[in-house]
Amino acid sequence: HKILALVIILGFAFVVSCSKQSDTTVTPTTTGTTATYNDLWIPPTLTGTTFTLTLAKSTKQLRTGAVTNTYGYNGASFWGPTLIMNKGDLVKLNVTNNLSEATTTHWHGFHIPAIMDGGPHQLIEAGTTWSPSFEVKNNAGTYWYHPHLHEKTKEHLTYGAGGLIIIKDPIESALALPRTYGEDDIPLVLTSRNYTSTNAFDLSARAYGDYQLTNGTSSAQVSLPKQYVRLRILNAEIERGYNLGFSDNRTFYVIGNDGGLLDAPVAVTRVKMMVGERVEILVNLGNDAAGSSLDLKAYNSGQAFGFPGGEPNSTGDFGSLLNNTDFPVLHINVKAATPTAITALPAKLTTNTYWTTADVTNSRTITITGGQGATAFSFDNNLYGETKINQTIKLNAIEKWTITNNNIFGHSFHIHDIQFKIISRSSGAVGTHESGWKDTVYVPVGESVSVIAKFDDFASSTNAYMYHCHFSNHEDGGMMGQFLVTQ
Ligand code: C2O
Ligand code: CU
Repeated sequence: HKILALVIILGFAFVVSCSKQSDTTVTPTTTGTTATYNDLWIPPTLTGTTFTLTLAKSTKQLRTGAVTNTYGYNGASFWGPTLIMNKGDLVKLNVTNNLSEATTTHWHGFHIPAIMDGGPHQLIEAGTTWSPSFEVKNNAGTYWYHPHLHEKTKEHLTYGAGGLIIIKDPIESALALPRTYGEDDIPLVLTSRNYTSTNAFDLSARAYGDYQLTNGTSSAQVSLPKQYVRLRILNAEIERGYNLGFSDNRTFYVIGNDGGLLDAPVAVTRVKMMVGERVEILVNLGNDAAGSSLDLKAYNSGQAFGFPGGEPNSTGDFGSLLNNTDFPVLHINVKAATPTAITALPAKLTTNTYWTTADVTNSRTITITGGQGATAFSFDNNLYGETKINQTIKLNAIEKWTITNNNIFGHSFHIHDIQFKIISRSSGAVGTHESGWKDTVYVPVGESVSVIAKFDDFASSTNAYMYHCHFSNHEDGGMMGQFLVTQ
């Protein structure tokens, strides 16, 4: 107990001495249940129409003792800047790879030509620059960029390569919503890691981290003004889902999904986010006293996502301190309101016109297979092949895809190029929290999920888009297929 107390005191002293360096954190304890917090790192923003990104190796003080080897874009020690783009802009990105090996950078959620997409085929060799350019066609919302090199995605993500993209448009800008970045509009990137005894990220089979990171900060805290605050949350995990809520079980409001605003705010006390999904939420801190605090927490996510027997704690490698438990992801200290405080919830946000079954011109099914014994998870008994085209879609088709999971494990299903509408879940109703435009959907065990999308604008007989499980270990294992959109 004396040693533990000493560790806590030393940790606290370190945090205090580092409190001005917001990108330097330390974790004196394991699960964040201690009262010692580190200030949440808010990634800097890049604006304009030309974006320069440089991915390089870095280090970060994540734990007491040795620093951890990490990757970051533009000098960040984990993760990278938030790109702010306007719908309708023609943007150019210069992405330089200063790692010692190839990588790729994918614009997750973007509706762009396949050759610009940054999937496994758009290699950026070490020491080179890739310069895609495209029109921003997506709605205002929260998107992200991350490496997508086949068999390396998990590794590159684990080291911290990634960043958020915020798209703005006139509809969103006209609403009375919080939008002062870092003040009442806060990016939250959730993930977790395991460490070796020398504080390196443990790249072995363990996909569920013991140590939670929010924007690359362990035991993160932030001061937020007593007013409506917007949180843009990304599940950037390897495998874990998050069943999120506040420690006093207060009601909060989902205003956006992967592909932009919902028609109107949806009141919830919990929101489930599987890997790759984004939600924008509004939480009212207006009735909280300045000086009070609360936590944003994950609540027994294994049970919430319907994993048989909960998240896999029992099978050695997968066991995690955080599985099937409640744990904080952000400690919130309430401070005085800002002069531009948003004090009311908008009744209406936008008018989306979703595809319905009546619009569908073609249907296909994708069956989750594999995963037994040493066999990797796959789709339709096909592992990813670099030159294997699994689906061919006619340009302008409105397609219904039904993803069927009579397998042994839940998966996070992502389609490049398009945003879809979830029209049914065989287990029951589609959640109101996932009723907007989506590019990633959770498919639990025993369930079939149907989504509808239009594959418009971009056709190519040679450049394919990906669909895959967003658990990066499954994706690396071959749970990925390719589709062409052709004239
Ligand atoms: Cu975020 Cu193909 O992925
Ligand atoms: Cu999977």
